[in-house]
Amino acid sequence: MNKNICCIGAGYIGGPTMAVIAKYCPDRTIMVVDINQKRIDAWNSDHLPIYEPGLDELVKKYRGKNLFFSTNSVEAIKACDIIFVGVNTPTKTFGRGAGYASDLQYWEATARNIAAAANGDKIVVEKCTLPVRTATAMERILSEHKEYHFDVISNPEFLAEGSAIRDLEQPDRVLIGGHQTPEGLKAVERIADIYAAWVPREKILTTNVWSSELTKLAANAMLAQRISSINAFSALCEETGADIDEVAMAMGLDKRIGPAFLKSGPGFGGSCFKKDILNLVYMCESYGLQKVADYWRQVVLINDYQQERLLSNILKTMFNTVANKKIAIFGFAFKANTGDTRESPAIAICHMLLEEHAQLAITDPKALTHAQEDLKGYPGNIVFTADPYEAAKDADAIVVLTEWDLFKTLDYERIFKVMRKPAFCFDARNCLDAVKLKQIGFQFRGIGKPSSDSTETAGH
Ligand SMILES: NC(=O)c1ccc[n+]([C@@H]2O[C@H](COP(=O)([O-])OP(=O)(O)OC[C@H]3O[C@@H](n4cnc5c(N)ncnc54)[C@H](O)[C@@H]3O)[C@@H](O)[C@H]2O)c1
Repeated sequence: MNKNICCIGAGYIGGPTMAVIAKYCPDRTIMVVDINQKRIDAWNSDHLPIYEPGLDELVKKYRGKNLFFSTNSVEAIKACDIIFVGVNTPTKTFGRGAGYASDLQYWEATARNIAAAANGDKIVVEKCTLPVRTATAMERILSEHKEYHFDVISNPEFLAEGSAIRDLEQPDRVLIGGHQTPEGLKAVERIADIYAAWVPREKILTTNVWSSELTKLAANAMLAQRISSINAFSALCEETGADIDEVAMAMGLDKRIGPAFLKSGPGFGGSCFKKDILNLVYMCESYGLQKVADYWRQVVLINDYQQERLLSNILKTMFNTVANKKIAIFGFAFKANTGDTRESPAIAICHMLLEEHAQLAITDPKALTHAQEDLKGYPGNIVFTADPYEAAKDADAIVVLTEWDLFKTLDYERIFKVMRKPAFCFDARNCLDAVKLKQIGFQFRGIGKPSSDSTETAGH
């Protein structure tokens, strides 16, 4: 067996993960392949297809040395005995399980490609997030190939977009699941060896393959649940006069709870949380665990509710109408430091505002191209600009949807002057200086913040 590594799928996971492996494993050749020619061309150009802090430098340093991007998956599968699979596994939009189950067509096509091109024994590593027991299906497809032996390993990725390179270089843990057979354990060890080039051995956990597959879904469900929990409390804060940031801070000091992921906002986005929870719900239902399915479904429902609540607050504050009013949307990415807009709360919120006949001026430092695609064909008056001052010109309101540092450092006196009055600011990330903006003259509303009609004595 050789030490070369192939990764099928050059997306948000495949690209950054392989760039970091290339850095720490100079003795290995890394080949990243994709069916999307445009994406591969971008990986080979000066304008990478995704934005991640630190990614540009890394790719430019190792590309052409031990890191290669191409569309030739057959050549890569033949050249490499270790094959990571990082293709997309979106929510199914058709047939049985539509809206919940994972669409495994890309993943299955990949398994068939591996079987067709294999020229020797291979270790196939599931990097994508998959329903539990998917490894069995992959093994069945691969086992059609009688000549060679395939080990299927689960190695879910826990990186967060926006801090992908840091998370890959200093992971909390690396999880590798394999069959508890002599061959399975050997394959797990070979994958562990890759990470051991930079990750301390005690942080490399090995488990059985099903535990590893389920851990990824469970981790995302728990993280999303924390966001929905804090957002549910934000609704109660607005009614009672409590302040969500104070509640979160005081609650997070309890070591059993901890401070991470207690920031209220417009709801979670990104390609993973919603799809993974819905997949979990579908799996629970298929095992007859209806109560468990209902429990996790509620996490997604609260997320939708948070976005509807934001719209209701905007309408209520702006005299129950935004028709023909210009609203400046500050931020379209699903969080700061990424250009990714998949499942961004901004999409739903902009749709709702357009349905109310608002005119939108959208600004974002990295996500404008995706924003244009996401809102393409949607009827309404929308302009896109990289300049936040231009977006705010003649606007009735600003709605902050992404917590970019850039938005925290703008000259809000200048912005206030060019806006229509009263000038509203809805900070759905609680990232601006509320006191200062109120002093400037803004009608300011945060999420989970006491409004003027809630008092310290409200409540029961
Ligand atoms: N994005 C994240 O933060 C994140 C984090 C952890 C896990 N994951 C999981 O990783 C997987 C990939 O996510 P992503 O965000 O990188 O997706 P992505 O859509 O950015 O990338 C997937 C790539 O796979 C390619 N592809 C599809 N079928 C192919 C085939 N047969 N051969 C070659 N290439 C093919 C697509 O063209 C695409 O470029 C998903 O299962 C996701 O749940 C993502």
